[in-house]
Amino acid sequence: MKSIWDNDIKLNSKFNLLNKNIVTDVCIIGGGITGISIGYELFKKDINFVIIEKEKICGKTTNFSTAKVTSQHSIIYNELAKKYGMNFALGYLDANNAAIRNIKDIIDKENIKCDFKLQDSYIFTQNVSDVSVLKDEYKTLSALKFDDVSLINSIDINIKVCSAIKFKNQASFNPVKYTLSLANIFYSKKNNIYERVDVNNIKKKKDKYIVYTDRGTITAKYIVIATHFPIKDIPGLYFLKMYQNTSYVVAMDIGDKKFDGMYINYEEPTISLRALEQNNKTILLVGGNNHKTGDSNTKDRYSMLEKLAFKLFPDGKIIGRWNTQDCITLDKIPYIGRFSRYMKNVFVATGFNKWGMTTSNVAANIICDLILNKPNKFAKIFRATRYRLITNIKASYYMVNQSIQSMIINKFKIKKENIEAIPNDTGKIIKINNENVGVYKDLDGKVYTVNPYCSHLKCLLTFNSLDKTWDCPCHGSRFDILGNVINSPASKELK
Ligand SMILES: Cc1cc2nc3c(=O)[nH]c(=O)nc-3n(C[C@H](O)[C@H](O)[C@H](O)COP(=O)(O)OP(=O)(O)OC[C@H]3O[C@@H](n4cnc5c(N)ncnc54)[C@H](O)[C@@H]3O)c2cc1C
Ligand code: FES
Repeated sequence: MKSIWDNDIKLNSKFNLLNKNIVTDVCIIGGGITGISIGYELFKKDINFVIIEKEKICGKTTNFSTAKVTSQHSIIYNELAKKYGMNFALGYLDANNAAIRNIKDIIDKENIKCDFKLQDSYIFTQNVSDVSVLKDEYKTLSALKFDDVSLINSIDINIKVCSAIKFKNQASFNPVKYTLSLANIFYSKKNNIYERVDVNNIKKKKDKYIVYTDRGTITAKYIVIATHFPIKDIPGLYFLKMYQNTSYVVAMDIGDKKFDGMYINYEEPTISLRALEQNNKTILLVGGNNHKTGDSNTKDRYSMLEKLAFKLFPDGKIIGRWNTQDCITLDKIPYIGRFSRYMKNVFVATGFNKWGMTTSNVAANIICDLILNKPNKFAKIFRATRYRLITNIKASYYMVNQSIQSMIINKFKIKKENIEAIPNDTGKIIKINNENVGVYKDLDGKVYTVNPYCSHLKCLLTFNSLDKTWDCPCHGSRFDILGNVINSPASKELK
């Protein structure tokens, strides 16, 4: 699967292969926008560090983002104010607005060419019954004295809305050009990025940590886990407080037509819109139609997005389709800070709830300050060791229920069936000789079988008929038809 930014990775990537053991001050594991932004902050403070990346720098979630750089994280401020107080909501808003300014300052200072564009962001509803939700959000934002917000009842694109909230002075960019440019700034001086290195363990030894990889060890005083879903389960227990959610994106070439502003709706299914300029053409990105990763109902996910794109631009041409998943926390706040009370110098940044462009910058500043033992006024809001798990009752119930179904109940529902009876291009779990087996038959009838239990914590997998993958409904690991891991937290292949 390729995103619109994919070619930029090929043009810009040229990092080290690890062939020795390394001793340094900080080891950052993961080379997406989070790991690289943290690296850039450490570089500015003259701290020694290395970045260890399993595949290609910027090749995973960051490469598939729609990359709106905004503090408008859907509807969130009224909920935060009600649950945790006005100061908390203000802190979340200030942290993300500061991130937009920081990103702009970095781009200006380093002269980064990443198509950064200041533009307004809108959340709208097409349901009369949801107008009050937007009004309450607007009231809270006004009470927080946020000057850049307004409540309006129409938007400048061909979608009829009942109400919308506009945030002025937000932005968008090319996430791959931005991240790779940051990486190249410190790599050109420090030679400290290693690609295609799989970290498989972190262990404490006296006052240091040893990171074990398939190509050598890294000994460091501080470790930062920026692997999207944390690669370590215990302590930390992030698998109990996060799940993954998949979004789809279609890219449409709309030629010389213009599309200004960034849009998202409040209701479900989610639709998200923004445009970019590429080779003198405007490309519209229509994203959304989300579902929890592991939901077997993946058919037709792109068609609703394409229908909307053609409604807006009947002469447009679809030039790309992709999907990927992001980590969702139960209280809607990312986990940034100490990984666990029991691992003092290990830090984590995860659970960006599909808003990681700004919150990765928030993470970079908080984690850098924690390493330097400096106070950070936003650290408390995002504290990763907090216990606020069940404030979102609906999500918590759904997550627990899903785990019980996938770990226990669904295992007893599998029926005996002959492989011959499975149609071509179909995947299914069937019972063969009293054993459950995941079977995929390709278009030519060739059969691929896997053990259908996730190698993370043994949930029963589901077959994703759109991408031809085995997906885990519990925490979102994904495997190809041969059983290779394509998405963590699982790290071992399926038998
Ligand atoms: C469809 C979609 C649209 C989005 N749109 C927006 C948007 O408009 N605005 C916004 O703010 N956010 C958006 N997001 C969210 C945003 O893209 C993510 O939050 C962000 O990219 C996460 O970055 P990351 O660096 O944490 O993860 P990643 O980019 O996934 O980086 C993690 C890296 O860690 C590496 N890794 C994993 N395991 C290991 C290991 N064992 N050893 C070494 N390395 C390892 C991986 O290979 C990977 O490169 C969107 C997300 C999706 C899915
Ligand atoms: S991802 Fe945790 S059990 Fe599958």
